[in-house]
Amino acid sequence: MNMPLDKLPGRRGLAVRMVIAAALAAVMSAGTWVVTASEVQALENGLARTPPMGWNNYPGYRLNITEKLVKDTADKMVSSGMKDAGYTYLNIDDGWMASTRDGSGNLQVNKTKFPNGMKAVADYVHGKGLKLGIYADAGLKTCGGLPGSLDHEAADARLFASWGIDYLKYDNCFAGPGCANSTCGDTKIPALKRYTAMHDAIVASGRNILLSVCNWGQDDVTSWGASLGNMWRTTTDMNNTYARMLSIYRKNVALAAFAKPGAWNDPDMLETGNGMTATEDRTHFSLWAQMAAPLISGSKLTTASAATLALQLNKEVIAVDQDSLGRQGTLVSSTSGRDVLAKPLAGGDVSVVLFNSTDATATISTTLAAIGKPGNASRTLTDLWSGAKTTTSAISASVPAHGVVMYRVHG
Ligand code: GLA
Repeated sequence: MNMPLDKLPGRRGLAVRMVIAAALAAVMSAGTWVVTASEVQALENGLARTPPMGWNNYPGYRLNITEKLVKDTADKMVSSGMKDAGYTYLNIDDGWMASTRDGSGNLQVNKTKFPNGMKAVADYVHGKGLKLGIYADAGLKTCGGLPGSLDHEAADARLFASWGIDYLKYDNCFAGPGCANSTCGDTKIPALKRYTAMHDAIVASGRNILLSVCNWGQDDVTSWGASLGNMWRTTTDMNNTYARMLSIYRKNVALAAFAKPGAWNDPDMLETGNGMTATEDRTHFSLWAQMAAPLISGSKLTTASAATLALQLNKEVIAVDQDSLGRQGTLVSSTSGRDVLAKPLAGGDVSVVLFNSTDATATISTTLAAIGKPGNASRTLTDLWSGAKTTTSAISASVPAHGVVMYRVHG
């Protein structure tokens, strides 16, 4: 159900404003002020109670997004079972706009790529039971050089609402005069100010649009991301290499305290099927689920292999990501590149990932006490990739190089 944000005065409003104002003042003063997770008031727009799931064109196709690709992908999301598995959002990334605004200052679609306009695309996607996401930029230009939304927030949000957009990924390029990216120094306009403007514009539009903050973990976003958006990027862009996946994981795993229903750390989209080995793809998907990350597939769905689809459709791993408790998994131990992560689940189960980040097979072990299950009683473990069940008082497995073993520990 779409409920206008401004109709929810009890759930947002003054408290949120005060937190934003305090954060703004602190960031402006550039002091040593640090917020804790519990101080950040969540957006509470009713969206993203579990991490958003969907698809985005950027990892697989970069800016080559067209009406045909959106429709073909929507069809495949339904026929492949992705939609039924929870992948609800079909997100259009950078590349959909015309290179200039019209004479009245309105954003325009690229008519060659989207000959029937965006409303027709939204109607098609909604007709499939999916939701439509779009991309804009909180600066002068998008990262691909198309028109930015800075100082056009109200009109752009109204336009997106009129099309029936459900999700806005809001990027951070050209964040002020002379800036190509946010390392541009004094000419940069503070991110909090720019993202607040779009948040307020969405509220004023009257449509409940999920706001995905994409400022790459900069500008102290964990101190304000949850008050403005339902998710916020925590790092630079993911790509299809194990090295990048590993570095993003290491940064994102430390931010568990900031994740909660309605507000998620976003370590960027899934590159499954785009170039890593099968073992690494499985690791990537498992770690993202264990970190309660948004699961936004970046694979070329229309031509995806059976193996890539099966990986992304693992219902047991998805259930860990989507668990209603909304806790991000944390590191229990990390020894010489051998990590153990635990994620408490609703009802008392715990998911455990044994991750071997090294280049050689290794045995990784932990204890029930370490993952939050003290006492000597044996527990039943389900291996979430093989389906095998064992009853044991010890957790230990041989894990391949760059691989994981992932368990649900019952009870
Ligand atoms: C930035 C974002 C990416 C993608 C591109 C599009 O790099 O971080 O996720 O949206 O821009 O140009």
